[in-house]
Amino acid sequence: MPTRLSVNINKVATLRNARGGHVPNVLQVALDCERFGAQGITVHPRPDERHIRYDDVRALKPALHTEFNIEGNPVDSFVVLALDVCPHQVTLVPDAHDAITSNAGWDVKRHARFLRDIVAVFKAKHIRTSIFVDADADTVRRAADTGADRIELYTEPYALRYLHDREQAIADFVQAAQAAQAVNLGVNAGHDLNLDNLAYFRRHIPALLEVSIGHALISDALYFGLENTIQLYLRQLQER
Ligand code: PXP
Repeated sequence: MPTRLSVNINKVATLRNARGGHVPNVLQVALDCERFGAQGITVHPRPDERHIRYDDVRALKPALHTEFNIEGNPVDSFVVLALDVCPHQVTLVPDAHDAITSNAGWDVKRHARFLRDIVAVFKAKHIRTSIFVDADADTVRRAADTGADRIELYTEPYALRYLHDREQAIADFVQAAQAAQAVNLGVNAGHDLNLDNLAYFRRHIPALLEVSIGHALISDALYFGLENTIQLYLRQLQER
């Protein structure tokens, strides 16, 4: 089964915001990512709108041709936005408002009722839901009890360990993905995936449905150009 590449364009918005104008044009970049082969676009709106803005998210939905994934902490303003925009997928992430980036998956046991309720809200609008989790089989099974359709495995620990011992790095992720399949949860992944560690991850998690990649991909584009970079990432996902 092919793994879809969803490009997280928050970094493009961060660059734009540095000058306050419209350069680079976030909407145009998203459309170009699609033209260059990306199978999805991801945005991570935060309440302070320091990266992608709520009005960017609203403008993107009618313009995109591929899958639109909105990720973030389901605070009230996020839920209102997501219900209004109706993306293909909402990924629930427990990031604190002042965190530089997401740095942990949900404590699903602790937040079980909250997650069940919020998943039901999105399901009622036929929006696929995914829950960002650490690679832990027990957490994955609990995620299934919330009614979510998928999990997104938080891959920063994989990316860090991969540098020293890739077999050890992947072990928990293989187990977590198997636990997900056993309870009929689809598996996505994201965070710190890059051209070095992506193919190995994909090879060991064959059921991987989607990766969302931002930081490394946009950084690589500085050297290789956006079109080549997207093609390079797609090739990593196709390697056996
Ligand atoms: N998935 C989630 C939930 C994230 O918060 C992020 C970062 O915004 C990513 C994936 C993408 O991570 P990276 O920018 O390291 O590729």
